[in-house]
Amino acid sequence: MKREVKVTSDGSKTLYINDLNENYHSHHGAMQEAQHVFIKNGLKLKYDSEINILELGFGTGLNVLVTIDEFLKNDKNHVVQYFTIEKYPVNESEVKELGYDSFFDEPKMNEYYQKLHQCAWNVKHEILPNFFFTKYQCDFFELKNLDLPPIDLVYYDCFGARVQPDLWEKPLFEMVADKMEQGGLLTTYASKGSVRRILQELDFKVEKKDGPPGKREMINAVLMR
Ligand SMILES: C[S@@+](CC[C@H](N)C(=O)[O-])C[C@H]1O[C@@H](n2cnc3c(N)ncnc32)[C@H](O)[C@@H]1O
Repeated sequence: MKREVKVTSDGSKTLYINDLNENYHSHHGAMQEAQHVFIKNGLKLKYDSEINILELGFGTGLNVLVTIDEFLKNDKNHVVQYFTIEKYPVNESEVKELGYDSFFDEPKMNEYYQKLHQCAWNVKHEILPNFFFTKYQCDFFELKNLDLPPIDLVYYDCFGARVQPDLWEKPLFEMVADKMEQGGLLTTYASKGSVRRILQELDFKVEKKDGPPGKREMINAVLMR
């Protein structure tokens, strides 16, 4: 499917799929959304000396970069293991045009950004000391076959239910919950009532949070079992 690069309201870019009329990020601000949903209401709430993160939808790699940025602000002896799944990788020219590394003060961010996209799939890499990264090229529903440590934090960043409704139904959430540690946190930009009910049925304690710019609400869900 044809993708094009678009500029969002905070000046950061995103990818847009014409045929689906769907953006990879909020058009109100890709960078602001990633910071708000996945760092402020995700990583900062779960940060520990060892943390295992699972992302659904590697896409442009923006969520990995905001995670590295936060990791660098903390004790460098902490260990992050980041696992992410992607079926339709972005290409080199899209990575270049998006230019996400330029939004960070860290001088080595370009090196990390390149590594994330160029490294081999299905293999663990140490992108920088104590930050381990594995990207799986497969369908989300193959998650059940992946051998992962208990996951503390899930970035649920699939396309919206309008275009991929099956990704917001019980079977996938159940698979994700099965990979999580008790007390693990799932954070997502979505706030649909049906998603909240499914998460509650799966023993998550669901909390509505203020959404990123342009969106009233989002969901935080803590696994209670
Ligand atoms: C909202 S975008 C991802 C955003 C990504 N976190 C980022 O910051 O760029 C959703 C991602 O899910 C991927 N995707 C869609 N359907 C998938 C599937 N069935 N299995 C795995 N990946 C899928 C898309 O290619 C896209 O990269």
